[in-house]
Amino acid sequence: MKTELAINGGPKTVKTIFPWPIFDQTDIDEVANIVKSGRWGNPDCGDIVARFEKEFADFCGSRYAIACVNGSVALRIALIACSVKPGDEVIITPYTFIATASIVLEANCVPVFVDIDPDTYNIDPAEIEKAITPRTKAIIPVHFAGQACEMDKIMSIAKSHGLKVIEDACHAHGAEYKSKKLGGIGDAGCFSFQSSKNLTSGEGGMVITDDQKLFDMVDSLRNVGRVKGGQWYEHHYLGCNYRITQLQAILLSSQLKRLEEQTRKRHENGTYLNSLLEKIDGIEPLKRGKGETVHSYHIYIFKYDKSKFNNLPKPEFAKMLAAEGVPCFMGYPQPLYRQPLFRNRNFMCYAIPESVSYKDVSCQVTEKACYEEAIWIMQNAMLGSKEDMELFAEAIRKIQNAVN
Ligand SMILES: Cc1ncc(COP(=O)(O)O)c(C=O)c1O
Repeated sequence: MKTELAINGGPKTVKTIFPWPIFDQTDIDEVANIVKSGRWGNPDCGDIVARFEKEFADFCGSRYAIACVNGSVALRIALIACSVKPGDEVIITPYTFIATASIVLEANCVPVFVDIDPDTYNIDPAEIEKAITPRTKAIIPVHFAGQACEMDKIMSIAKSHGLKVIEDACHAHGAEYKSKKLGGIGDAGCFSFQSSKNLTSGEGGMVITDDQKLFDMVDSLRNVGRVKGGQWYEHHYLGCNYRITQLQAILLSSQLKRLEEQTRKRHENGTYLNSLLEKIDGIEPLKRGKGETVHSYHIYIFKYDKSKFNNLPKPEFAKMLAAEGVPCFMGYPQPLYRQPLFRNRNFMCYAIPESVSYKDVSCQVTEKACYEEAIWIMQNAMLGSKEDMELFAEAIRKIQNAVN
């Protein structure tokens, strides 16, 4: 018997509400205390920011952590601190948020897109090797959705070509590769604390590193080019005011206490959901087992094969599944190189050589992921119960049954 789909007015399969962010009276009290203290900003009263930086560095097993306004700025100042020069090439994938690429342009460097691994949607190390030229200066591997990139291979390629590695860990708070926290493996690692992220204060970012020179430069760039021990109106580098407030820092500090437990729950649910979805014809969870020991499931991704759903296009399927109560959507609609920014070279004043064109870039795996395959379930849903995971699978089966 076919049940009416929720999108057509039938009953929803999943009735649970998955709240985000999660907070209680402790978070409210902590923030209220800062408000009452009147010590909202820094650097002149930034002790709570410094305390959170230490907590986050310890959590990641890194020597240094530098908080800043968002993940994009974290990536940009980390890249600039690696001493890139105008026209240097930086290897990234086109299956990521625009910031991973736009910050490369902002640093007057050239983003070079290489394809993703069809198993994980992470950067394919073999493609990195093919893209290296004498101008290549850095690689920015994105631990997409919270799953670790193949860091041993990436670090070994970087070492043999003298390249810097800046991990985009904006999806990967608390995730691990071979039992080491992500962000702490490359020269620097960058995090976002924007509203949707697994650790959030509404907005915010962080750079972590073990390298003291990188630390000093990132610290200066986020603080208007000041240097430690310098005068207030003494500016050494082209920085800006990228500092966060004490209010953000106290909230992050309070939220960090929940992260380990929440990450464990998402990881467990992700593993369980994999076991359920791999039994459905036409549904294939992304593969695991390329080194990740903890997956933070900022996004749970599965591949959709429309031929098993009576050729129902992916966007329609995603809408039907969302209507059934699964917090999901179709993800990036196109690879980054198809964005007008790249297609039309709308780089404004950035000094990218005239010869650089993105018109003929083509990454087949990314295109398939965007146009045909990838469906994203958001991280807050991965904090649900085992029964919720079972209902997610049931919702997919319900749609399959209804359309076939
Ligand atoms: C992979 C990735 N990198 C970088 C960023 C940028 O972070 P923010 O929004 O905090 O600037 C994001 C944000 O969504 C992201 O998903």
